[in-house]
Amino acid sequence: MLSRHPGTTLLLNDAQAAEIRSQFPILRHKVYLNSCSQGALCEAVEAGLREYLESWHAHGSPWDLWVDHYEQARTLFARFIGADADEVAIVTSASEGINSLASALLFRERKKVVMGEFEFPTMGHIWLAQRPRGAEIEFIAARDNRVAIEDYAARIDRNTLIVPLTRVCFANGFRSPVREVVAAAHDKGALVLLDDFQDAGTRPVDVKALGVDFYVTGTLKYLLGSPGLAFLYVRRELIPALVPTVTGWFGQANPFAFDVKHLDPAPSARRFQSGSPPVPSIYSTVPGLKLLMNTGMENVAERVQHLTRKLMEGAEKLGIESKTPADSVGPLVVLRAHDAEALVKKLAERDIAASARRDGLRISFHLYNSDQDVQSLLMALEHNLDLLVTKHPAAAGH
Ligand SMILES: Cc1ncc(COP(=O)(O)O)c(C=O)c1O
Repeated sequence: MLSRHPGTTLLLNDAQAAEIRSQFPILRHKVYLNSCSQGALCEAVEAGLREYLESWHAHGSPWDLWVDHYEQARTLFARFIGADADEVAIVTSASEGINSLASALLFRERKKVVMGEFEFPTMGHIWLAQRPRGAEIEFIAARDNRVAIEDYAARIDRNTLIVPLTRVCFANGFRSPVREVVAAAHDKGALVLLDDFQDAGTRPVDVKALGVDFYVTGTLKYLLGSPGLAFLYVRRELIPALVPTVTGWFGQANPFAFDVKHLDPAPSARRFQSGSPPVPSIYSTVPGLKLLMNTGMENVAERVQHLTRKLMEGAEKLGIESKTPADSVGPLVVLRAHDAEALVKKLAERDIAASARRDGLRISFHLYNSDQDVQSLLMALEHNLDLLVTKHPAAAGH
């Protein structure tokens, strides 16, 4: 783990930051600010993918080797979130993990699923699909770009079974008050599922300290991996009573028993898995996780916060309205735009990668971004103020 360099205010000094940047070839020709969609590809991740192809070439079907790698990924990710390996299921998408969990819940004594309107759409879809099984879904409306803890506390009651909670909203960068929501939910005996897809990889995670019951994230954004891999954490005490009906042979106590006539869910969180593991994605994700952990998650968090503050101050000076609350520590900043899609195209002409969601321009920071990236972006925004919503409309027209 890197440590504080004397004489610098940032935990990562310039040389260390430059060394990290050099491992991401795309940064040689692009200002990459789209990690909220897909993290940049680093050389170690590419090498991991090549290692998978080589193992396939060399051995044909080295399943023992691949299963060994897959268990290593489980152990590494468990360490990353402060859990034990037997509390982690390896799935192919966050949606798959959430579906498996939803299928294991019974909407009997408690029927309500309470969630804020800032959840990623898949969260709404999966729980709404449980209505024929008895679930009652309630959405909490946002106020001023926030879903308030008071509103969670008012809506969670003794009929609430689970509270799905996004850590960071994909559309505006709002950060949920996780500990407070967990306290409000547990006070009424409700469970909490934290969706960390828009934040995992940018700061330390400790699921035990957060007190969440379930935690899900995928690897393709800030965890630097490829699509096709996600993890579901289930608090140990909850596992025995939860029996998913979305299942398959890799969710069984012994997948290699090849016993078609018996359902025998694994005693661990592996019971939330279904089919063959996403081996190529596992090979490409492990090196990314290692890079992050070796850099030190405190270091990553500080860099992300520093860049976020710089952008928000710069945007404020330009009079650009932000959808992201002013106290944000990142990683996602969303600026209000008249035509966000057109703005993304204008930025692409300057080799700046960002993305659009409705009326928002999404800019996201990771450990490989620099002060120069923020400067380049602010300059480009200044030239396109007419596409942005500004507090002083007269400023538009550059
Ligand atoms: C916060 C959040 N949750 C869930 C998802 C969906 O993940 P998956 O496609 O792996 O199901 C995304 C995808 O972008 C996301 O941003």
